[in-house]
Amino acid sequence: MTSATTLTGHKFERQFFEAVVKRRLFFTETFDIYRLSPNFKGDNRGLFDYGPPGCALQANIVDAWRKHFVLEENMLELDCTVVTPEPVLQTSGHVDKFADWMCKDPIKGKPTASGDYLRADHLIENVLKARLDRGTGGLTKDAPKLDQATIDEYNNILAKIDNYDGDGLAELIKQYDIRNPENNNEVLPPVPFNLMFKSTIGPSAASPVYLRPETSQGQFLNFKKLLEYNQGSMPFASASVGKSYRNEISPRTGLLRVREFLLAEIEHYVDPDKKQHLRFGEVSDVILPLLDRETQLAGKTTPQKLTVGQAVELKIIDNETLGYFLGRVLLFLQNIGVDLSKVRFRQHLANEMAHYACDCWDAELLTSYGWVECVGCADRSAYDLTVHSKYTGASLTVKEALPEPAKVEEWQATLDKKLVGPRFKKDAKAVQTAVEELDQTTLESLATELAEKGVVAIKTPGLADGSTSVALSKELLFIAKVTRQVNTREYTPNVIEPSFGIGRILYSLLEHVYWSRPDAVERAVLSLPLAVAPNKPIAHRISTRLRKLGVANMMDSSSASIGKRYARDDELGTPLSVTVDFDTLKYGSVTLRERDTMRQVRGPEDDVVRAIKGMVDGTDTWEQVLNRMP
Ligand code: ATP
Ligand code: GLY
Repeated sequence: MTSATTLTGHKFERQFFEAVVKRRLFFTETFDIYRLSPNFKGDNRGLFDYGPPGCALQANIVDAWRKHFVLEENMLELDCTVVTPEPVLQTSGHVDKFADWMCKDPIKGKPTASGDYLRADHLIENVLKARLDRGTGGLTKDAPKLDQATIDEYNNILAKIDNYDGDGLAELIKQYDIRNPENNNEVLPPVPFNLMFKSTIGPSAASPVYLRPETSQGQFLNFKKLLEYNQGSMPFASASVGKSYRNEISPRTGLLRVREFLLAEIEHYVDPDKKQHLRFGEVSDVILPLLDRETQLAGKTTPQKLTVGQAVELKIIDNETLGYFLGRVLLFLQNIGVDLSKVRFRQHLANEMAHYACDCWDAELLTSYGWVECVGCADRSAYDLTVHSKYTGASLTVKEALPEPAKVEEWQATLDKKLVGPRFKKDAKAVQTAVEELDQTTLESLATELAEKGVVAIKTPGLADGSTSVALSKELLFIAKVTRQVNTREYTPNVIEPSFGIGRILYSLLEHVYWSRPDAVERAVLSLPLAVAPNKPIAHRISTRLRKLGVANMMDSSSASIGKRYARDDELGTPLSVTVDFDTLKYGSVTLRERDTMRQVRGPEDDVVRAIKGMVDGTDTWEQVLNRMP
């Protein structure tokens, strides 16, 4: 199946699809009336508002996510602030490294309509894909054909486009004469562009802040409190759903790349020596389509299907905990109605990985824009907890009592305080701190050097005369290997992080469930499953009864013909519709219509209400209802 086919195997036409979701107000461009006014100079690209069915669908997806992850595994949910002080994001590495490569169009020729800044990897991708489309007869039949060697070369670059750094991208732009497709201008070499929105807090401009680009940092900063809340017990997970912000260079793909979006993130804290997962057995048979690093570097894009169990055993997926979450992610996507033939898990290439990650798999969904990363599953190792602890001095570790005391051998450095005080005076404290901070490897080599030369130089910051090291003779410093008994083990947990972009999932899902009736392309249907569909049935006074039972619904008392009303329901993805007509007044019966098959049954109001409630709860099915009711 390709992105270009719908559920029923028909060609996917994006313009028809977009017309439906816009007409039914799933989402719309923000500040639209300003954007359309002649005086408006602003930029609303990458910003969208959700309408009533979009809000309901989003809320239902988040609800399904909470049930599937947070409730199922007793995760500790947090709601942290968006506004984040600069030192936090400086420490996490985002201020220096959270950037994409950007090319500026210097506008030598005709200026562009929609901006003169281009994300370098996307620019190359778009140009090469367009050349391939043209050169293989995809777009225009009469364009000159590309030879096979060039086709292979382009495909090879595309398969690993995420692996190029700034220099690599600059090289590609030069070598393949990549230009701005809108005006054929040459572009300047790529420079890094930080994606965070910056502001200041309070009336003074002295304290810079950023809008958070991910919810994770707030969760990490609460780690110690959560560990205590969890009574010191490991492993455990925190979770958070909230808006995140990224000043994307050039958002052009609707809801897929926006500057403000809802992220749902899990931080699972685990002992680095015990990455097994208690519930691994529950997902070990789930089959995952995996596109690993080696396959991509070989220029290929066909995933291999393996069970989670096999992939972990073969070490394609690094550990059980990561494998467990990849399996759970697939089951979640299936629950909400994603087409599993349009899902793959792609491993990040070395250069593509975020600065904090040591391994990462993205769940990608196939859309009319190609494969789109919707869920990122990263192993962030101990990176974040370590850097925050170092900066703040707060301990972000776990201390566990050992089953029995153990002996450890380690290098220990001791200063002769009676001699160091008089010798270094004001600097004595700085010398002491420098010695205390020496790590085991350094101590080992210093011990040898001290034995050989009788004196060593120790790097010492903060000395009164501005020098940066002190010489310590063997009279002052003593280094030896000692054996200690320990009763506890202290470690910094590793973090496995599944990160869900709710907007991308919602958009891809809408594309997956969209189709049109075979007889007429304009008769669109969104086959959203009952669990997430915005409205359940359209009912009359039955509406109140259903609402009391917790079944969301919408009443349609318009004067439109019944056919038009059903067509509207189909476009909203409404799974079931109830119609009250003249027979209702006479016999007290109503009809119940199922969206995908358009079949109807008729029965007493009480029976219909019970059937709907049963189907929503999953205790009844449409087939059973069809058999039971005429
Ligand atoms: P991309 O490479 O597409 O820019 P990313 O690798 O930066 O994405 P992550 O940093 O892993 O994405 O973000 C985690 C999740 O947040 C993604 O899986 C995606 O679903 C979502 N996401 C990230 N950026 C955006 C965006 N601009 N608009 C919508 N969702 C986004
Ligand atoms: N927190 C995951 C990410 O934003 O990359």
